[in-house]
Amino acid sequence: MVIHKVKSIFFSPGRKTSKVTSVLTNSLNITCEKYNITGYNKRNLHIKVNHDELAVFASPVYGGRMPKIAAQEFKNIKGDASPAVIVAVYGNGDYGDTLLEMQEVLESNGFKVIAAGAFIANHSIMRRVAVNRPDEKDEEVIKQFANKVKEKLESIKDINKISTLRVKGKYPYRRYPGMPLKPAVIKKKCDLCGACVINCPVNAIPKDNPMITNKKKVHKLYGLSYNMY
Ligand SMILES: Cc1cc2nc3c(=O)[nH]c(=O)nc-3n(C[C@H](O)[C@H](O)[C@H](O)COP(=O)(O)O)c2cc1C
Repeated sequence: MVIHKVKSIFFSPGRKTSKVTSVLTNSLNITCEKYNITGYNKRNLHIKVNHDELAVFASPVYGGRMPKIAAQEFKNIKGDASPAVIVAVYGNGDYGDTLLEMQEVLESNGFKVIAAGAFIANHSIMRRVAVNRPDEKDEEVIKQFANKVKEKLESIKDINKISTLRVKGKYPYRRYPGMPLKPAVIKKKCDLCGACVINCPVNAIPKDNPMITNKKKVHKLYGLSYNMY
C-alpha cells in the first residue's frame, strides 16, 4: 500500500521515547507530522489518521504497562483501517504487556497494527541503567526496523486481509500499583527555566513556583508517591 504521510504520536516525559520515535520516522523518509502528547496542555487532540497514512504510536514502559495517560490519549485517536506501528521504550528491564495493551487500544479504534518494536533506553528512574541509550548501535537497529516497516507496507495489498500481529504480553495484564519513591531535592540545580512546567504530564508543577510539586496530581500518573524528580 502507498503511504502519503506518517503521523507520529508519542508520550515521553524523559524524552527517550521521543528520541527513538524520531530515529524511526526519519528513517521512513515519508513526510511526518509529530504529536508529542506528553504535556498536560498538549492532549485531547482527537487526531484522525486516514487510510493512506501510517500512524506511529510510541510509549514508555511503566511497570510492564503503558502509562495510563498515554492509553487514555491513544483512545482519542481514530484510524480508518489505517496501518499502525507500535513502539515501547523501556529501561532494560521488561516491557511486559505494553505492546499487547497498545495493540488492543488501537485495533479497537480503526487501526491495524502492522509492526511492533521494543527498544531499550536509559532508565528514567535508575539513571545508571542503560546509560546513553539509545546509542549508535540502537539507532542502527531502529533504522533496520524502519526498513522492515517499509517492506511490510509495500507487501500489503488489502490491509483488511492481513492477519493479527502476535506481540508479547498476556491477559489479564499485570497489575501496576505505582512506584513507592519519594522526590529528591533539586533546589541547587534548578535554574527555573520552566521546561518541567510545560512538559509535566499531569500539570503538577506550578509556573510561579516550580520547586513545589503537587503530589496528588503526580499520583494520577505514577501511582503512590513517585515524583518526576
Ligand atoms: C514509573 C516508571 C516505571 C518504569 N517501569 C519500567 C519497567 O517496568 N521496565 C523497564 O524496563 N523500564 C521501566 N521504566 C523505565 C522507562 O520505561 C524508560 O526509562 C523509558 O525510556 C522512559 O521513557 P521516556 O524517556 O520517554 O520517558 C520505568 C520508568 C518509570 C518512570
